[in-house]
Amino acid sequence: MATQKALNFVTITSSMRPGRMSDRVLAVALKAIKEQGHDYTVMDPKELNFPMLERPIHWYPSKTQAPQWLQDAEATMLSADAFLFISGEYNRCVPPALANIINHFGPNVFSAKAAGIISYSLGNGGANVRFSLAPMIQELGGMPTPAQCCINFVSKKLNEEGEFQEPDSTDAAAIASKVQRVVKQTAWYASAFINHRRDFGDLPN
Ligand SMILES: Cc1cc2nc3c(=O)[nH]c(=O)nc-3n(C[C@H](O)[C@H](O)[C@H](O)COP(=O)(O)O)c2cc1C
Repeated sequence: MATQKALNFVTITSSMRPGRMSDRVLAVALKAIKEQGHDYTVMDPKELNFPMLERPIHWYPSKTQAPQWLQDAEATMLSADAFLFISGEYNRCVPPALANIINHFGPNVFSAKAAGIISYSLGNGGANVRFSLAPMIQELGGMPTPAQCCINFVSKKLNEEGEFQEPDSTDAAAIASKVQRVVKQTAWYASAFINHRRDFGDLPN
């Protein structure tokens, strides 16, 4: 079996809340990406601080007319071999900070790119966000990968550094394995798309 080339995972988080949990989950995900020999670029809504959507980049007559911060963000997204979404769940749906980022871009960014989803909740929820996030990604031509990973009661399981509170527990092992699986599947699909694009060109319009 050939060795998979190192991929660039563009990892997008979903929260701007003070004391947010997203950083804890992000830390676990980045560790898994590194362990599997891949690279990553993080897009953090708090750092990027996008304004509420006024005009998506592909709606400008020319992209060079878009503000520089939006052109830069698109360049980051275009550099993705794969996406990894780290998402909380707000009222069972995609948190506004994440939806706002996604809505700034068109299918050219997501088309035929694999997208893993890792979700989480402070409580016993978090799994439902997938039902609104996956269709958003699909609408833009991306492919959400099937492996599911939801970390519920996240603050009880991960500390502020994103380390397991009880590293030897079966819970910790199960979460680590689910995160690894999302990354592995996403890398597999991403590589398949890369190979197919190389041999057969871009996805037809
Ligand atoms: C507006 C809002 C809506 C929420 N709705 C849900 C929900 O539907 N399901 C759930 O499990 N948790 C919900 N929560 C709790 C979140 O799981 C919790 O706040 C989590 O820490 C959010 O991620 P963050 O800390 O990265 O922002 C909600 C929180 C907020 C602020």
